[in-house]
Parts: sequence; C-alpha cells; structure tokens
Amino acid sequence: MSLDYPAYAPSEEHELLRQTVRELAEAKIAPHAAEVDEAGEFPQDALDALVANDLHAVHVPESYGGPGADALATVIVIEEVARVCMSSSLIPSVNKLGSVPVLLSGSEELKKKYLSPMARGEAMFSYALSEAEAGSDAASMKTRAVRDGDHWVLNGAKMWITNAGVSEYYTVMAVTDPAAGARGISAFVVEKSDPGVSFGPKEKKLGIKGSPTRQVILEDVRIPADRLIGDEGAGFKTALATLDHTRITIAAQALGVAQGALDYAVGYIKERKQFGKAIADFQGIQFMVADMAMKIEAARQLTYHAAIKSERAMLGEKVPDLTFVSSACKCLASDVAMEVTTDAVQLLGGYGYTREFPVERMMRDAKITQIYEGTNQIQRMVMARQILK
Ligand code: CAA
Repeated sequence: MSLDYPAYAPSEEHELLRQTVRELAEAKIAPHAAEVDEAGEFPQDALDALVANDLHAVHVPESYGGPGADALATVIVIEEVARVCMSSSLIPSVNKLGSVPVLLSGSEELKKKYLSPMARGEAMFSYALSEAEAGSDAASMKTRAVRDGDHWVLNGAKMWITNAGVSEYYTVMAVTDPAAGARGISAFVVEKSDPGVSFGPKEKKLGIKGSPTRQVILEDVRIPADRLIGDEGAGFKTALATLDHTRITIAAQALGVAQGALDYAVGYIKERKQFGKAIADFQGIQFMVADMAMKIEAARQLTYHAAIKSERAMLGEKVPDLTFVSSACKCLASDVAMEVTTDAVQLLGGYGYTREFPVERMMRDAKITQIYEGTNQIQRMVMARQILK
C-alpha cells in the first residue's frame, strides 16, 4: 500500500532559506527596527538589504525576472523579516499583495511591464481596495473609472493604503458600472507618476510605524485602456481572489512577530532573577512559555498548509478550500500573535512596558494583523460562509 502524503512540510531548501533570511534580518534589519518605529520612517536600510539579496519580491516568477519562490518560501521570508521588524516585513508582503491581481488576471503585457521592474527592485507595488466608507464592505466603494476612448479616467480616494507614496505602482479597484454592484467593479494599474495622483498625510498609527499608510487620491487620472487588469467588471473577484493568497502572508507576519517576542522573552526569563533564582525556574512562567510556543506552532502548521494550497492554486489546480484555509490561518495566527506578544510584555514585567525593550513594539505591531486584509470578524464571516454554503 502506498500512501500519498501531502508535501506540506518545509523542504531542506526552505529551511536553508529560513537560515539565510534570519542571518540577514538579524544583521541588517534588526539593528534599525527600534529607530524605524520611534521615528516613523520608512525602513530604507531594510529595503536596500532585501533588494541586494533578492528578497523584496520573492513571489515573482522567473519568467518575469523574479526568484520564482513558491508560496511557502514567501511565507518563510516574511516570517523571518517580521520576527525582527514588522514594518520591514511589509516590503515583501505588500509587493505580493499589490501584484497578485496582475499575476492572476492581468494580460501578458501588463505582467511584463509591471512585474519585471518590481523584481529588479526598482519599484514597489501597493493594493488600493478600501475607502473611508468602504472598509469591511469593500464592494460599496465609490471611486469611479469612466471610459473615454482609449483611456480610463479615475476619480476618488482610496484609504489605508500600505506603503502609499513609496510604491511606484498601485492596483486600484474602481466602479465602472454603478448599476452592477460588485460586478461593476474593475481593477487597474495606476502609477505614482500618473498626473492627478496624490497622497494624503501619513496616518499616525499604533504600530507598523515605519510603513507609511496614506490615502491615494485620484483626481481625473487618465490612464491607457490597457491598464485594466482582466475583464471589465471582474475587479472585485480579482480583489477577493488575491486576498485568498495574501491573507496567508499576514499570517506569516503574525507568526514572525509572535516568534520574535517569544524568543526575546525566553532569553529574558532565563537571565532575570527573583526570589534567588531565574524566573524561568517557576512553573507559572514555564506554563506561559509552553502555551505561547504551542499556539505559535499550531498557527504555523495551518499557515504552511494554506501556503501549499495557495501554491497549488497558483499553478492552476482547483483548490476549493483555499478561501477557508487562507482566512483561517490569518485569523488564528493574528489572534495568537496578539496573545503571545501581550504575554511577552507580561514576562518582562515593568521592563516589557518600556521602549528600552522590543516586546512592547511587537505587541503594538501585532495588533494590525487582526485588522488588515479583512478584520478577524470578516475572516470568521468568510469561513462561516464557506462552511454553510
Ligand atoms: N474569490 C473570488 N471571487 C469571490 C470570492 C473569492 N474568494 N469571494 C466572493 N467572490 C465573488 C462572489 O462569488 C460574488 O460574485 P458573483 O456575484 O458573480 O456571485 C462576488 O465576489 C461578491 O461576493 P460576495 O457577495 O460574497 O461579496 P460581499 O460584498 O457580500 O462580501 C466580503 C465580500 C468577503 C465581505 C469582502 O468584502 C471582504 O473580504 N471584506 C473585507 C475587506 C478586506 O479584506 N479588505 C482588505 C483591504 S487590503 C489591506 O488591508 C492590505 C494592507 O493594508 C496590507
């Protein structure tokens, strides 16, 4: 009898990649993480280091000049960067989010034109779905695209756009047929340099302070008709199909920040002495770290499982439960990250509450993973719909 085991454990190459990224992240990204958070400045050192090592957009296929890493390798890269600096982990994750719509639905010309510069590290790619009044209910967006001969003219304002201003390219979802609801939304590539594109002020956030979050404002932005991604009216489906792949990268960020907090806390409790011994010798503390590690590992296994499904879907296989596992891993890993980082602060006591130690930053950074790419309430709604349909 032969058993066909699903290959969802990382291979030797994946573990080698993890080691390489960990060394790079600790040497070149970690030293700037506190300063990036404190100053709220984009982590240029991290971008330079990632580009120099071809780790800024690892998901781009070789045919468009990228490393062609599979979805699990992409998760590992993001995880390891987030372990030391969440703001920096948004470089590979948002590059993936912005460009997956083109990969999934774009013409060959669009793929060549926009994926190659990103793969070379010359441009980053953001994703513009949300608006001030269209967050969880993304289909209620108002940004309008009107056809004018060989062009589309876009007007509106997209909100909460990660890496806005530093990205050259934006996948923008806009209404092309207001009478058709979700089926009247189309996706476009907009460039930062297109006349009429501007950016709102940087949001003042709790965490991920090094990654700019701004409005993308579109005022009579006239773009060639061939910047339409896929078919007219198919933009909302492309947007949701994209999230099926990229919610897994948010889980990766959550795993990374949780692991970073656990690793730091473990080092601390072995050193910190109270009542004449290391606090790691107390069973109450041991039970806490056991729970933290157990939850991270459970979330990691689900995330890797989802990554393999994402890869299979990218290769053309029909994967009916991709939507479910993608929402499930994002929801689980982000809830775990919030718990684990909060417990890490607890383990450091008063020190954990200060900016002298990295765990309070990790706790603030973890929070966003429960909110973006769909709140965890939306993830539960998506999962329930999959179960009940
Ligand atoms: N893939 C492809 N198509 C899908 C799909 C999927 N996973 N899920 C639904 N669709 C299709 C449906 O079949 C339907 O098409 P038809 O009309 O042809 O049947 C269409 O899309 C509309 O679907 P719904 O009726 O289910 O849409 P809805 O409006 O009821 O709900 C939602 C959709 C799941 C709530 C969705 O709006 C959602 O996910 N909201 C959360 C928004 C979100 O995640 N925003 C993230 C912003 S990006 C971000 O945060 C990034 C960052 O900063 C890093």
